[in-house]
Amino acid sequence: MKLSDIKSSEAELQDYYAQLRSQHITPAWIGGGITREPKSKAVPWVWRWRDLRPQAMRAAQLVGTEQAERRVLRLTNPELPGLSASNTMVANIQIVMPGEIARAHRHSGSALRLIIEGKGGYTVVNGVRLPMAPGDLVLTPNWTWHDHANDTDGPMIWLDGLDTPLVRMLEAGFYEEYYKETQTIVEGASSSFARYGEGGLRPAWEAAPATRYSPLWHYPMSQARAALERLAADRSGSPFDSIILEYTNPVTGGSAMPTIACFIQMLRAGERTQAHRSVCCTNYHVIEGCGYSIVGGTRIDWEDKDVFTVPTWTFREHVNDSDRPAFLFSFTDAPVMKALDLYREETKAG
Ligand SMILES: [Fe+2]
Repeated sequence: MKLSDIKSSEAELQDYYAQLRSQHITPAWIGGGITREPKSKAVPWVWRWRDLRPQAMRAAQLVGTEQAERRVLRLTNPELPGLSASNTMVANIQIVMPGEIARAHRHSGSALRLIIEGKGGYTVVNGVRLPMAPGDLVLTPNWTWHDHANDTDGPMIWLDGLDTPLVRMLEAGFYEEYYKETQTIVEGASSSFARYGEGGLRPAWEAAPATRYSPLWHYPMSQARAALERLAADRSGSPFDSIILEYTNPVTGGSAMPTIACFIQMLRAGERTQAHRSVCCTNYHVIEGCGYSIVGGTRIDWEDKDVFTVPTWTFREHVNDSDRPAFLFSFTDAPVMKALDLYREETKAG
């Protein structure tokens, strides 16, 4: 047995390929398609709050929530024009003005909201009213009814993260409008948090939810900040991410949603982390603080409320060169990679 040494003329091959093309068949040996390692089309990029906020306010002047079911500015990666911030996940800026609602609907894509500006508006998820304050994480998982409302006297602005590019690629998207504009609120304001917000404690009289997403839909910043500061006081944390916490499903300990994992990390003043990379794309939002990250060899300076993206398998290290702590929120598609046995990590030293 040996490799065969059949050779044909270029003309003969081209004639054969043309025939195949006409029959919608491709010879795989000329098509490529396999890479030695992941190579994202997306590039590292940062969207500045100083650009985002005025454009969100402008959108609020130009477009109503009756016309735009969601008044959303989608951050689009320069190499994924018009599509999304990263390969499998979008990062959007949404604005709801005082007195406005964004009507109730549901979809098979899962979403998260990280509140940037405004305190007192709310999101209703499956009839449960969730408060929204700066730095809070609110989940509207797969196929949950959700609507938003702003009953304050200032704009509510938040970061939306969704897995819609993945759902679209899988051709698994469903969408449905609620039968009326807003849901009737059926439980108290803190019910999701009251039941599951204590982490290690959950109601023993309730059966574990059948859903794979977290039954906790509101993770307050006050709780996350206190936990980070507690750990930062006497622990070194991860060499790559310093003090980093995952927002977990309190029932399973797993990721907040099956397609998206969410994290918050604290970089202490003057701290620099080591470089690593992983098979997942990551979108970051600077809750507060300033510093920079080296992403694939490119320095990305960031400050309060900026958003930046790190494509898959791209080395990143973070530097807080300021004299105050920095808090970064991030979300990744790592749960998808892990579920499919595709997840890997590597440190720069190899
Ligand atoms: Fe939605």
